[in-house]
Amino acid sequence: EKGGYDYFMLKEIVEQPYAVADTLLGRVGVDGTLTLDEMRLAPHELRQISKVVIIACGTSYHAGLIAKYAIEHWCRIPCEVEVASEFRYRDPILDSQTLVIAISQSGESMDTLMAVRYAREQHSRVLAICNVNGSTIPRESDGVLYTHAGPEVGVAATKTFLTQLVACYLVGLYLAQVRGLKFGDEINAIIEQLARMPEQVGRVLETVEPVRELARSLADAKTVLFLGRHVGYPVAMEGALKLKELAYMHAEAFAAGELKHGPIALIEEGLPVVVVVPSREGRGVLHDKIVSNIQEIRARGARTIVIAEEGDESVRPYSDALIEIPSVPTLLQPIVATVPLQVFACELALAKGNDVDQPRNLAKSVTVE
Ligand code: F6R
Repeated sequence: EKGGYDYFMLKEIVEQPYAVADTLLGRVGVDGTLTLDEMRLAPHELRQISKVVIIACGTSYHAGLIAKYAIEHWCRIPCEVEVASEFRYRDPILDSQTLVIAISQSGESMDTLMAVRYAREQHSRVLAICNVNGSTIPRESDGVLYTHAGPEVGVAATKTFLTQLVACYLVGLYLAQVRGLKFGDEINAIIEQLARMPEQVGRVLETVEPVRELARSLADAKTVLFLGRHVGYPVAMEGALKLKELAYMHAEAFAAGELKHGPIALIEEGLPVVVVVPSREGRGVLHDKIVSNIQEIRARGARTIVIAEEGDESVRPYSDALIEIPSVPTLLQPIVATVPLQVFACELALAKGNDVDQPRNLAKSVTVE
């Protein structure tokens, strides 16, 4: 049942192109029309929304952080993202024009469920993004968009995360379409690119072998830092979380622009720093700023592990290790940029002799608050 792999996690990582394809299946028409019927939120309701609030935990929270960039850019609706366990304890401002999106692969996280109940009491519309059919969170929500990742056995979320991203993008693009926004051409171009993601994820998987070797060489590191900007920042957070939970190693992510406000003091000789470089498309400024960050930390002795678009020669001179990913639109980059980080954490954990399917102290569904 592990399909020839020693661990479910290894199988689930390589299944990602299919998981992404299945989540897109039947939802993207050849002409770019999106069909998200099970959402059970009518276009007229979606047109009235004045704010989106995303609630989730752990890896699902990272999907939410990425969704914020996409939803605000494509739909021009303010979007907040919050960890579910904090949400209802601070008297959040919700009303009937707020769309709450609850992201949970299991559909059973108690923190997220309690936040959903709270939001419904405040008369907000709640949409669940979930991988498990008929689980509690979608049953208690107004509508649901299922991710079709298939069963995920490994405790660490991998294919469910990529498919959550796809679902978030679909919701954002659909909202933009029903609200008839000015970016019509951009939206259509993105939909076309989104439809190509299964193939792009497949390409990443074909080139990750050197990442395994790199990870094994870092098995004795005490800490690993992760840097990113824009959507690459939540990707960096996800890379750090994977390393903590699988390799039991201290890891922390920073927004690269924050480096100079403190974290740069942590940089010392030999410290591994993983940097997610923004795509050059449309965000050239950020790209160049992060290249300067890489130079700065390397000059202070960091061992730089750089994830950048293929053909991005500007980072090569400052990269101790360069991991290339396909060139895709900025907002979609997390789908391809996350994969090497999953492989990195998994392989490093295996090198330490850890059970990557059952990391210590963790459970697949966290059903207590
Ligand atoms: C990370 C991980 C956890 C979950 C979190 C939320 O690999 O698995 O951080 O993402 O417990 O779980 P769901 O998505 O089931 O609500």
